[in-house]
Amino acid sequence: MKVRGQHYRTIWPNDTDSRVIQLIDQRFLPHRFVIEEVRTVDEMAGAIKEMHVRGAGLIGAAAGYGMYLATLGAGTSFEDDLAAAAAQLKATRPTAVNLAWAIERQLKNIGAAESVEEKQRLAFNTARQIADEDAEYCRRIGEHGVELIRHISEQKDGATVNVLTHCNAGWLAFVDHGSATAPIYAAHDGGIPVHVWVDETRPRSQGSKLTAWELGEHGVPYTVIADNAGGHLMQHGKVDVVIVGTDRTTYTGDVANKIGTYLKALAAKDNAVPFYVALPSSSFDWNIRNGLKEIPIEERDSEEVNYADGWHGGEQVKVRVTPQTSAAANFGFDVTPRQFVTGLITERGICQANEESILQLFPEHAR
Ligand code: MRU
Repeated sequence: MKVRGQHYRTIWPNDTDSRVIQLIDQRFLPHRFVIEEVRTVDEMAGAIKEMHVRGAGLIGAAAGYGMYLATLGAGTSFEDDLAAAAAQLKATRPTAVNLAWAIERQLKNIGAAESVEEKQRLAFNTARQIADEDAEYCRRIGEHGVELIRHISEQKDGATVNVLTHCNAGWLAFVDHGSATAPIYAAHDGGIPVHVWVDETRPRSQGSKLTAWELGEHGVPYTVIADNAGGHLMQHGKVDVVIVGTDRTTYTGDVANKIGTYLKALAAKDNAVPFYVALPSSSFDWNIRNGLKEIPIEERDSEEVNYADGWHGGEQVKVRVTPQTSAAANFGFDVTPRQFVTGLITERGICQANEESILQLFPEHAR
């Protein structure tokens, strides 16, 4: 996608030195556009854990490049060093399944090579493939999802379609295009009038900081709303469709996504607003049936709730928003059970959020 007219991905190898991986450091958006250079597994693990990069697809791509960096840094006990790097990267964030998926894919491919040089070459190619695939699958999600928006637009005689989204499942959460935003960008680019209600998404504010920024850069009309406003808007007919992303969706259709998603799904159901989840196949967990019981929910530092940060006088400042001695809890994700999900928008098309329909699109995962 474009930043000030120039095309960027969220992560890429340096043009002249492929031992250096470059990424957009999202901690400074929307106020500063900072590119970070990462050279070691430690640095990549830190970038994922501290959310310089975040979002399911991008976490997967970053882990893919992290494993490539591990092959460059591994010593004489190559296999042990690689296993340690895999464990270190896997421990950074627990909910997005793309992380483990990318690491396992790397381990399998690297394991097939004989020499260290060949392992390094394979790891680099695999990291690039993971990133390219992520971008391409998101582009296809846009192609399928835009048909939903087109249909709503026709039902409204061409009036603006209002989409509500939560968190950031935009191009910043992937390598390019985004999942939830891909149909929105495709609609906007195709001349379908579309407007986005952007949930601010406390405590990290991925909506008001990241989704707002990227929609604005692309020229898509949007309005930031406080997290609790969605239900009210739905009751008053101001939301035509909800489209969110996911960090992990079971093959039975339960959806883990940023905390607060479940409440939006409940409000959508009560108001007969369609609730769609957009995801590339790398965000399916093909091993677990029960999302509520089995998906690990990340708990982050209470500081993120106790403090807010923003831009003041040319500087990024952090302010305390709770009483000095307040305890705070910071659950990163929640699970929306399948019965609240109207459909899943994937790179292969749209299916229902149930085992039968998902496996019809992805028969290679049937057992
Ligand atoms: O904690 P984050 O920012 O890494 O969470 C990821 C998200 O942005 C959302 O949950 C998103 O909707 C799914 S990831 C495409």
